[in-house]
Amino acid sequence: MIIILILMPQSNFIALLKHCPQKGTSLLSGVTVLWFPLCGRSREARLKVISQLFVKQLSSMHLTHKLELFPDQKVTQMLFKEVKNAAELRQSAVEGKINAALINPTMLVNPFQVLVAANKAVHLQKTGKMKTRSLYSEIIFNLSPNNNISEAFKRFGISDGDTSVMVVLVHSEDESKLLADITARVSGQQVPVEDVSSLSDQAKIKKLYKVTPLEEKSGTLLDAVVCRMAIKDVM
Ligand SMILES: *[C@@H]1O[C@H](CO)[C@@H](O)[C@H](O)[C@H]1NC(C)=O
Repeated sequence: MIIILILMPQSNFIALLKHCPQKGTSLLSGVTVLWFPLCGRSREARLKVISQLFVKQLSSMHLTHKLELFPDQKVTQMLFKEVKNAAELRQSAVEGKINAALINPTMLVNPFQVLVAANKAVHLQKTGKMKTRSLYSEIIFNLSPNNNISEAFKRFGISDGDTSVMVVLVHSEDESKLLADITARVSGQQVPVEDVSSLSDQAKIKKLYKVTPLEEKSGTLLDAVVCRMAIKDVM
């Protein structure tokens, strides 16, 4: 998302408010325009405005995608580092208290990899062809290049000692409440989802997905991984 910040005199702002009731609005798809009246304000008021902008940036740390084939379903990813309660999170997911897939980010190349797995899981759920118990376990299973479910969980699920976690939610309603619920449960630092690339263990990923040197030369690691995920049904 691109955020454009516009500072303007208070009188213009009041005129603008009459037309647009919100402080920020999306004029083009994916571009958010925020405007703030700064003139004639105290230093504290200005700081408050700036901190509002900061909150806006924090809330864009997650990534939400609409599924093309299922427009009523959205996939949201959130990434956490320095996680201290992985064991508790894993247990809550097992007990169904957390409605999300908890993924080990070191096995991820890029958020797109998760999106492919989630898209396939939703598709299999709608057609009644899932191989695991729930939509969230199906997402983890779909990440794996083979059909061994327990191995998929071992590699792509989180372990009790992990210090980072990618949380994946599939939802139809607005995500803000769901996100707040997850943030409250994770004892760790939320970072932008794109940072997952810096956590990837490329050697482990190449080994597990059996990426060949030729594939590495002719395309990206992400291409090779997504290809392995896609062809596992026909292998
Ligand atoms: C599946 O994976 C588990 C754990 O890695 C392993 O113990 C088991 O032998 C595997 N099963 C098959 C059928 O390969």
